[in-house]
Amino acid sequence: MIDIKTQNKWDRFSFGYNLMVATGAEKRWGPTKKAVFSRMGEDKKILFMALGTGLDIELFPHHRDITAIDISPKMAERAKPCVDAYQGNIDVQIMDVHDMPFEDNSFDQVFTACTFCSVPDPVNGLRSLLRVLKPGGELNMFEHTGSSHFPMNVMMKMMSPISSMIGPAMDRDTVSNVKQAGFKITRVENIYMDVVRTISAVAPE
Ligand SMILES: C[S@@+](CC[C@H](N)C(=O)[O-])C[C@H]1O[C@@H](n2cnc3c(N)ncnc32)[C@H](O)[C@@H]1O
Repeated sequence: MIDIKTQNKWDRFSFGYNLMVATGAEKRWGPTKKAVFSRMGEDKKILFMALGTGLDIELFPHHRDITAIDISPKMAERAKPCVDAYQGNIDVQIMDVHDMPFEDNSFDQVFTACTFCSVPDPVNGLRSLLRVLKPGGELNMFEHTGSSHFPMNVMMKMMSPISSMIGPAMDRDTVSNVKQAGFKITRVENIYMDVVRTISAVAPE
């Protein structure tokens, strides 16, 4: 079942999303995201969670076979020109990560970008990704997380209830959530303090 409250929130945010993200400070993360996505394997079954308005697509390597999901039809509708322009195959499906109809062990790799600050129940969402990944399959993430440093941690905790009403939460401990979901962490890289991070993990064999 789709979480309608979350779907409505992201449908509403879809109108201003590109203006806020594509032209703002977020643009600077392009090279890091591109490096993460460069791990998309040519012969791999890839799940991209969550597509948003498709801003990440221009950073994907060409000629990959990608299944991309998102809970918001309006975000995905905005992604259509980028999906159509992609030199490769992207199959877009509207679904909630908590309730994916894919069989167990369906994918070799999962990629996320700025996603697990947005999923309401991150540990269960990550468990769902673990279920659809093959044993030994890879999770590659680019994520905004909460900080462990004062005063950033306090500020982010205070801002999070407000930011999550319209968009993402700001205080997620995504590394710990990935571990709690049952993944084995292989690498964490801090891109900006401990707030913007890349996280790599594998599904246990
Ligand atoms: C901050 S946006 C990131 C989009 C894109 N990856 C980017 O970096 O521009 C978060 C996305 O997560 C999606 N999302 C939130 N909760 C979800 C869920 N439970 N299942 C699937 N997608 C979800 C939202 O619709 C939104 O498109």
